Amino acid sequence: MTKTNKKKYGENWYSETDNDGIVWLHIDKKDASTNVLASAVFKELDQAISDIKKSSPTGMVILSDKSSGFIAGADIHEFTELSNRDTATEMITFAHGLFSDIEALPFPTVAMIHGFCLGGGMELALSCRYRIADDDDKTRLGLPEVLLGIHPGIGGTVRLLKHVAVPQAMDMMLTGRSLRARAAKKIGLVDAITPGRHLKRAARDFILRKPAPERPGRLMSLLGLPYVRTILANYLRRKVALKAAPEHYPAPYALIDLWEKYGNQPQRMLHEEIGSFVDLITSETAQNLVRVFFLREQLKSFAKLPDDDEFNPTRVHVIGGGVMGGDIAIWCALHGFRVTIQDRKPESLAKVIKRANSLYKKKLKKPRLIQAAMDRLMPDMKGNGLSRADVIIEAIFEDVEVKRALFKEIEPKIKETAVMATNTSSIPLEEIGTALKQPERLVGIHFFNPVSRMPLVEIVTAPSTSEVFAGRASAFVGKIDRLPLPVKSAPGFLVNRVLMPYLMEAMILVMDGIEPEKIDMAAVSFGMPMGPIELADTVGLDICLHVAENLSKGLNVEVPAKLKQMVEAGDLGRKTGKGFYTYTKDKPEKNKFDRADVPSELADRLIFRLLNESVACLRDGVVADADQLDGGVIFGTGFAPFRGGPMHYAKARGIDNIVARLEEFKSRYGDRYTPEKGWETLGE
Ligand code: NAI
Repeated sequence: MTKTNKKKYGENWYSETDNDGIVWLHIDKKDASTNVLASAVFKELDQAISDIKKSSPTGMVILSDKSSGFIAGADIHEFTELSNRDTATEMITFAHGLFSDIEALPFPTVAMIHGFCLGGGMELALSCRYRIADDDDKTRLGLPEVLLGIHPGIGGTVRLLKHVAVPQAMDMMLTGRSLRARAAKKIGLVDAITPGRHLKRAARDFILRKPAPERPGRLMSLLGLPYVRTILANYLRRKVALKAAPEHYPAPYALIDLWEKYGNQPQRMLHEEIGSFVDLITSETAQNLVRVFFLREQLKSFAKLPDDDEFNPTRVHVIGGGVMGGDIAIWCALHGFRVTIQDRKPESLAKVIKRANSLYKKKLKKPRLIQAAMDRLMPDMKGNGLSRADVIIEAIFEDVEVKRALFKEIEPKIKETAVMATNTSSIPLEEIGTALKQPERLVGIHFFNPVSRMPLVEIVTAPSTSEVFAGRASAFVGKIDRLPLPVKSAPGFLVNRVLMPYLMEAMILVMDGIEPEKIDMAAVSFGMPMGPIELADTVGLDICLHVAENLSKGLNVEVPAKLKQMVEAGDLGRKTGKGFYTYTKDKPEKNKFDRADVPSELADRLIFRLLNESVACLRDGVVADADQLDGGVIFGTGFAPFRGGPMHYAKARGIDNIVARLEEFKSRYGDRYTPEKGWETLGE
């Protein structure tokens, strides 16, 4: 099919027409590796569509020239401009009109999809008559808007339901989950899947043959009946409520309301979608979640090596196959590294292999992939892998003498270029490195437990640490899909330091006679993923005690007597079946309380300790700035993402306000609430 008449539409689109009269409309966003729908891209698409419409072609295929995929979504950089209602309404109304025009074109249209087809890109594809996807493992289709505190806003809520049955459609939009090509075909999201090399032929075939598009079955359309909708909507609300409170995350509830009210009137629903979307995008929640998106991008950017550094790690050697070392090794092998894991005890290594098998089964599913990952993870009692490794991670007991001796022993054996790292959670690098010939090579790569679920990794440097090795450590962390945060080698680094006062305060509250359940409820109502008491039990009270004792030496942390008593009694939390809660089948037994029974100041008492310590960290230069602190605390502790991070929250609440409240708590509860030096400069 020779193509003629190449025509450009602005900087991001061009079309070609083939001998059959089919227009192939290409998107190739200028100066970008991925296509996103920025406002200029929308405007040029609008020109292209009105032009193509005039030429009455046989059909139109929309396709992307990028290897990364079709279209990854709207341009999130522009979301911050949408905090104004009028601007948001104007932009979204324009995009709505454009997609409706595409839907109404009198000739067949195909979205030819490979790689990412997400958000606004998926909505554009849904405006076409047909969708054809590359049956490749990289293909991902989805509507992840809810993760940014919004729902689809360019007709996606309505058009998805035209093709996909209500339960699957709502699941996609409420969870933001994306689908591979086969799963998308199964639910009717795409009309056909085919290997990449046949995509064009398939697209052409659809245009010429014009088959009936995919529609949900008759039975499924019963779910659209008004009374059935109400029952299903209530069910969905209950399901969503298990994960997200309406006052914190309004988007999924707004989506359910929209469908419940207008699910049987597509035109009305399209119109109402605009108002609902504008309410959401202008809300503080969405603006904060967009902020969190950028904080994540910022952390990711630390993984970029300078252009002249060709460090390209492929082999990792982990020393210490306990809780952390084992999980770190397992995670690295999952991400394609060849990993040797060394421990003195063969039984530790046997446990690691067992844990690896169950994680790989869950994550990789296919036996071939599971086997390949298992093959990459090699038990290595003698440490044979050491000399070939590009990254060495020590995760043995938390004992400075033992760690010092170990590094002294391994230093002469490792490659010149290799990163030499410790996973210590509390020992200053300066103390571990004293026996080294080149202490500048020692870096902290501090993972959190459990490694597979905690996205943040602190990259710890002492003044002596070389920038080159710190940069390589960050680059390595990026390669295993974790977010590196540069922090200074200071007690507790960032995350443990801000978390401990908050956890200790929770224990003091228990000692004051407040039920653990109420304390946890206060924190969860604030937006924390888990209350501090349950969190302490989960981390292990022995570990909490160890970290708290370490921090209590120089910082504003006192160790509650109750914590010491419980550890002495062997009540270490979840792992022993008893801590602040008693655990049955790994679940805490909790008494039920009404939210009204939770004293209103509890959340402030807990969170303000965390905020106060955050200010101290900023002042002490543990992290470079408030944004990095916010990113670190969100991805390292789960701090309520919709609040945009501790420092962002403090500013939103008012610095003077917080300092006054800290003073009030200090007079009522003690000096630990003394406002840290540093608050005064924050308001500037
Ligand atoms: P663990 O006690 O579970 O594991 C330590 C392992 O190291 C044991 O299997 C032991 O046999 C082995 N080992 C000790 N000396 C060795 C040597 N010289 N050569 C080879 N193997 C040796 O300890 P865990 O909890 O995994 O902690 C390890 C490190 O990670 C510590 O520095 C700790 O502070 C840090 N960390 C721990 C976290 C946690 O939540 N447990 C979180 C983040 C860091």
